[in-house]
Amino acid sequence: MDDSLELDFSVSYRHRIFFTEGAFGSKNQLLKKLVAEAKVLPVLDAGLVAARPQLLQELAQYAKSQSIHFTRLPLLLTGGEAAKKDSAVVKEVLSAIEADKICRHSYVLAIGGGAFLDAVGFAASTAHRGVRLIRMPTTTLSQGDAGVGVKNGINTFGKKNFTGAFAVPAAVIIDSVFLRTLDKRGLRDGLVEAVKVALLKEANFFQALENEAAALASGDLAAITRAVRRSAELHAKHIALNGDPFEQGSARPLDMGHWAAHKLESLTHHRLSHGEAVAIGLALDVVTARELGLMEAALAQRVLHLLHQLGFETYCPELLQAEGNDLWTGLEEFREHLGGELCLVLPTGLGQSKNIHELERKIVFRAANELKSIHLGTCAVRS
Ligand SMILES: NC(=O)c1ccc[n+]([C@@H]2O[C@H](COP(=O)([O-])OP(=O)(O)OC[C@H]3O[C@@H](n4cnc5c(N)ncnc54)[C@H](O)[C@@H]3O)[C@@H](O)[C@H]2O)c1
Ligand SMILES: [Zn+2]
Repeated sequence: MDDSLELDFSVSYRHRIFFTEGAFGSKNQLLKKLVAEAKVLPVLDAGLVAARPQLLQELAQYAKSQSIHFTRLPLLLTGGEAAKKDSAVVKEVLSAIEADKICRHSYVLAIGGGAFLDAVGFAASTAHRGVRLIRMPTTTLSQGDAGVGVKNGINTFGKKNFTGAFAVPAAVIIDSVFLRTLDKRGLRDGLVEAVKVALLKEANFFQALENEAAALASGDLAAITRAVRRSAELHAKHIALNGDPFEQGSARPLDMGHWAAHKLESLTHHRLSHGEAVAIGLALDVVTARELGLMEAALAQRVLHLLHQLGFETYCPELLQAEGNDLWTGLEEFREHLGGELCLVLPTGLGQSKNIHELERKIVFRAANELKSIHLGTCAVRS
């Protein structure tokens, strides 16, 4: 006779996200209150430090004035997608955690862009099977999306985020000061995740983005900070409150537009940033939804118009790359990633979406061809 023991248990988490301006200002006690007397290993995105060299001094002064126990001078490591291309950053962080005797009651403080946080977070989530991580995202995309999530990972076997883990950070600190050193592209990138989550969750936010499109596109920091904050709130609330924080089911609403985006990032060898790839992926999903009769043409048009107003392209040649390693294999890879059954969340209205489980190749390529025509049309107007 078969014998078994089955035990249900649950673990409760608190997802803590703090919004501030000037986290290392002499009067800002946020970080000190979080870490108290514990040891802290500071790890910084070298690209961020290159853009904001005074950060090292600010951090040193803050640590001194607040008696924060840094285990060493900040460890500067490669940022950007290069941080995820192999295990070098992960290994450096692991070896610092080991050398500095960071235990499960100490902290890793990671300050940088989304790619950097993904790589450092992976190291923190595996050392001692998980040490405490405080994330300080420093780009629009990481402040509004990547940094407030509960995932980390690096790219392996030529696939985005193939190796990674779910790990809820001890806290996330979003400091708008960091946005000041971003270039035009960096300022724009996170806005696409705001458009995505607005389309998915909140009509009012979508309308606010439309109303502020000109300010957002011009790099108005106040408008960008507002959009990033609402994006962060909606992403975090979805993760914490929608019942599937560790993505055990197949539906991934926050991944709208991402199946194509991840493939385009690798097909373009990261010539496209994550945000730029998501803009094309989102446009593709919107046109696909309209082709399938799930979304009204007028709304599809509004989404494309907003993306264009914000300065995003909605086409790149790799969308129509010849068969073999093409866009379509991206859908197969996404199906595989989900565990066999395809589940695409397509937008159907403002704040509304629908799961679909199959998609015909010809529809995807019809949508891709339409994006090409729109692109050629807008290029003609511009020239
Ligand atoms: N874990 C998740 O849930 C999740 C969600 C969405 C995206 N992501 C990942 O996030 C990554 C994209 O992150 P990103 O858009 O933040 O880009 P990024 O991390 O690649 O950073 C872009 C560049 O900006 C530099 N930088 C960082 N902060 C800066 C600052 N304040 N001023 C000037 N330069 C600065 C970096 O050094 C890098 O060169 C992708 O790898 C994507 O897969 C993860
Ligand atoms: Zn994304």
